[in-house]
Amino acid sequence: MKILGIETSCDETSASVVEDGKKILSLEIFSQADIHSIYNGVVPEIASRNHLLKIDGIILSALKKACLTLKDIDAAAVTNRPGLIGALLVGLNYAKGISWALNKPLIYINHIYAHIYSVFFDNEISFPILALVISGGHTLLYKLNSLTDITLVSRTVDDAVGEAFDKAAKLLNLGYPGGQLVEEIARKGNKDFKKFPIPKIKKGDYYFSYSGLKTSLLNYLKSIDEKELEEHINDIAASYQYYAFMQLLINVKKVIKHEKINNLIICGGVSANDFLKELFYEDSELKKLGTNIIFPPKYLTGDNAAMIAGLAYHYYDQNMKTDLFENAYSRIVKKGSP
Ligand code: KG4
Ligand code: ZN
Repeated sequence: MKILGIETSCDETSASVVEDGKKILSLEIFSQADIHSIYNGVVPEIASRNHLLKIDGIILSALKKACLTLKDIDAAAVTNRPGLIGALLVGLNYAKGISWALNKPLIYINHIYAHIYSVFFDNEISFPILALVISGGHTLLYKLNSLTDITLVSRTVDDAVGEAFDKAAKLLNLGYPGGQLVEEIARKGNKDFKKFPIPKIKKGDYYFSYSGLKTSLLNYLKSIDEKELEEHINDIAASYQYYAFMQLLINVKKVIKHEKINNLIICGGVSANDFLKELFYEDSELKKLGTNIIFPPKYLTGDNAAMIAGLAYHYYDQNMKTDLFENAYSRIVKKGSP
């Protein structure tokens, strides 16, 4: 079964054809990162307009690379939450048009759950699973009993970890999006140069928080002069990155021990970070617990439509298709839906 996936929730316009939830026949992604970089963040109206400009070409190209026409696909799938409403509506209405015109089923997908699916192309993972979703907008920890039985275990109470990287890159004058740029200079730095705060979390609580880390960097940069910043910018980035990730590691370990779950998925844009991988793979406690840690391949860490089409196959398989009257939602959870 071939599903055409469409993703326009933020600043990537993407289309992909996936066969039977596993085989990626094509994947096209147009990133608007360069367009938004001068604003140091995504400007919603500009994102929507660029989706409109690109979506025709991206979908046609995905079909062409899969050697298919629209008539050959069995269903369409589209992200309808969470995201920027104007951006989501571009993909959603395009998908509705395809579904209506060709009389094909349309499957609506939660972008966060699709990020989790990004590891299932290359891996067979048994349930239960813990999934840490770390991106520019989200820091969420889920427990999965199956692809459709998902409960939230923990989340950030303020900013997302990716946002903390983007903010650091802005404060250090590195550019946007920040994660990759911070990681790059952190490679040459000493992580033990400066201590940054890790939120003190009550026993039994697992939440994440990144506003303190961001403020701490801001205050520190105010306290040093330009020469010191220039000399130690790599060390500052390395320390900041280390403390941002230690918080994830500490909390996730607590949950793993409490829930006694052996499989851990780490996905979303921030999961492209090699230092993060090392930190989790090399952790002695996780090794001792025998935790199976799974990251997506790098090309699937960011926003992409393959994860949308892949997950849709399983929803379709379970008859979870809906009519044309579904809407777009900025938030994660919509009552009564998976
Ligand atoms: O999943 P994603 O592409 O979009 C959202 O749904 O937000 O994630 C983008 C986020 C940005 O905040 C970006 O700075 C961060 O992922 N990111 C990274 C790295 N690559 C991207 N953060 C840390 N290290 C990286 N290598
Ligand atoms: Zn995302």
